[in-house]
Amino acid sequence: MKDKFITLGIETSCDETSVSVVENGRKILSNAIFSQIKWHEKYGGVVPEIASRQHLEAISHVTQKSLEDAEIDFDSIDLVAVTHGPGLVGALLVGVSYAKGLAYALKKPLIGVNHIEGHIFANFLENDFAPPFLSLVVSGGHTHLIYVKDYGDYELMGRTVDDAAGEAFDKVARALGLGYPGGPLIDQTARLGNELAISFPVAHFKDEDLSFSFSGIKSAVLNYLNHQKQKGLSIVVEDVAASFQKAVVDALVENTLKAAEIKNVKTIALAGGVAANSRLREELTSKAGTDFLVRFPPMILCTDNAAMISCAGYYRFLQGFESDMTLNAYANLNIFSNN
Ligand code: KG4
Ligand code: ZN
Repeated sequence: MKDKFITLGIETSCDETSVSVVENGRKILSNAIFSQIKWHEKYGGVVPEIASRQHLEAISHVTQKSLEDAEIDFDSIDLVAVTHGPGLVGALLVGVSYAKGLAYALKKPLIGVNHIEGHIFANFLENDFAPPFLSLVVSGGHTHLIYVKDYGDYELMGRTVDDAAGEAFDKVARALGLGYPGGPLIDQTARLGNELAISFPVAHFKDEDLSFSFSGIKSAVLNYLNHQKQKGLSIVVEDVAASFQKAVVDALVENTLKAAEIKNVKTIALAGGVAANSRLREELTSKAGTDFLVRFPPMILCTDNAAMISCAGYYRFLQGFESDMTLNAYANLNIFSNN
């Protein structure tokens, strides 16, 4: 392999069009991210049709920007990596089709990357961290506790039985009139509130069961808001946000620490959009104490970006995987089977 192996990564699974250039799997040369938030926010969530169209309009410009930022041209690319699931199929197809065209034209290898694997790999960027470790992947679509034995070798230890944590943040933010995307807005609002003001229930499973459930907490918040309105009682939005956030964070932290103990790992790595949550970072770090080292990617690498896709694609390629022109997009794609 060359001294400087260049991976161009492409991410279009949801509402961010991102293209990144990464050297030797870990060194970010560029990470261009074009957010579609302003097209979706008036609808209170991502509209799949709009997402696909915006990706289509943006993809070649974002690629050009990424190459310019990295100060390279198309000829320097050694590998094209692209998210091919899970996500919105129409949105994913834009990235997959573009990546196939690029790899074919440049006569370079193509590799399909699982978006969740990408989130975990965001922890490897710009440092020498390596498996084994336990990862809590918390995003808008997923809440997974994954034991990362090695690159590409994963064991699922727990997952949500209903809503993903990020989805609960987004739905509660909408109910509170905070806007979209809800996670960062709840995070900010909660800083001004009292997290002990209202007790929202956290679902508990049997001892060894590391499942999560967030739909109960979400419903409890909605019921609380309805109750207060019907009785003409005041609603302190900051307190509701803080108390809701505490319930979610407590559930996440409890199972994560249990899983880390079971696997006897030294390190816990947070991944996914909700890993940007300040309370989750604080609480997990504080509860882990000196038993575990808690790490998380920088904010910009927690939410959707293509640098993490370049990194995961590079390691998959090193393991001998390569995709061909039949690569397709999948709404559901799990990382525990090597498809
Ligand atoms: O990983 P991501 O960018 O996209 C998916 O793969 O889903 O995650 C987006 C999710 C959204 O639900 C968003 O509200 C949440 O991550 N999020 C946060 C924070 N920043 C983003 N949730 C809680 N606190 C935050 N600071
Ligand atoms: Zn994501």
